[in-house]
Amino acid sequence: MEYTIRDGRADDHDRIEEFTTNTFKWGDYVHDKWHEWLTSPGVNVLVAADAEDHPVGTSVCIMMSDTEAWLQGSRVHPDWRRIGVAGSLAERHKVWARDRGSYVLRLCIEKWNEPAHGQVTRDGYRPISDWIEGFGSVSSRLPSVVGNGDTRAKALEALVRGTTNDVQPAIMSWSSGELYRPARAMFTVDWKWRRLTEDDLAKAARQEALWVGRTGWAIAALDNTTLEVAWFDTRPEDAPDFVRSLLEIAVGEEATDVKIMAPDLPWVRSAFEAAGLEIADMTVYGLTL
Ligand SMILES: CC(C)(COP(=O)(O)OP(=O)(O)OC[C@H]1O[C@@H](n2cnc3c(N)ncnc32)[C@H](O)[C@@H]1OP(=O)(O)O)[C@@H](O)C(=O)NCCC(=O)NCCS
Repeated sequence: MEYTIRDGRADDHDRIEEFTTNTFKWGDYVHDKWHEWLTSPGVNVLVAADAEDHPVGTSVCIMMSDTEAWLQGSRVHPDWRRIGVAGSLAERHKVWARDRGSYVLRLCIEKWNEPAHGQVTRDGYRPISDWIEGFGSVSSRLPSVVGNGDTRAKALEALVRGTTNDVQPAIMSWSSGELYRPARAMFTVDWKWRRLTEDDLAKAARQEALWVGRTGWAIAALDNTTLEVAWFDTRPEDAPDFVRSLLEIAVGEEATDVKIMAPDLPWVRSAFEAAGLEIADMTVYGLTL
């Protein structure tokens, strides 16, 4: 089965949608993002095309910073799998990313996705850190004491909006705390990982998305009706209260749902579970370019 690799085009959209709509049990996002990716700078959209030039596979590479690239949206038509299509697309992205100054190409795979883990391992990517996403609806997760009416378990030390003055203490605490190494100094931007910089925290502060309190710091902002927590720092002993404070922010912001991304550590997992969140497991892989 012969295929060629070429740049993605706007007119590929419908065929991409055809074979990606049911990729996962929740569907897929690749066709929704297609036009945005094609028109964004720093994004390389490739397809593998059959003899009639119809797409049978695709993946996307995104420059996350001057030196870091991210691979996502790997999708191969079921009839075209296990003949190297995903690997060939990734090889081309490697060259593209290296030419743009990237030292590393990373990607994320959910724990259950055996074929994808197999493919990237075969292609030389190394697992560099395990992550969990705690997620759930907000209303049903509010902390309360059974048999104590609607009184909260105990008064929480609230997180409040921070300013750029909080950036230095936040970064100092994080880089000397327990989450920094497991995170490999990274945080998430919309399910894409890259190194966190002081500028990211300063930008979050300016956008009113930096939250601070005695129990820790967080970057948390509304995406439609979901409060997305892209980064946080806390200590193991404060984690249960801290996570509950994040839920309180969600309530205050009138979010219906919350998503919190974190390195997979037992005490973080326990704090998520104690707050009644469901957990999705994933691994971030990296390849030095
Ligand atoms: C994951 C996916 C992109 C791989 O595409 P592909 O073109 O078949 O991958 P390649 O042919 O380049 O690599 C195949 C290798 O991956 C691994 N692999 C593929 N399918 C596998 C499976 N079902 N179980 C275990 N390993 C598997 C093997 O190492 C295989 O090599 P082999 O055939 O020599 O044993 C494809 O299965 C797919 O589209 N899956 C649905 C979408 C998806 O999950 N994308 C990744 C999201 S992070």
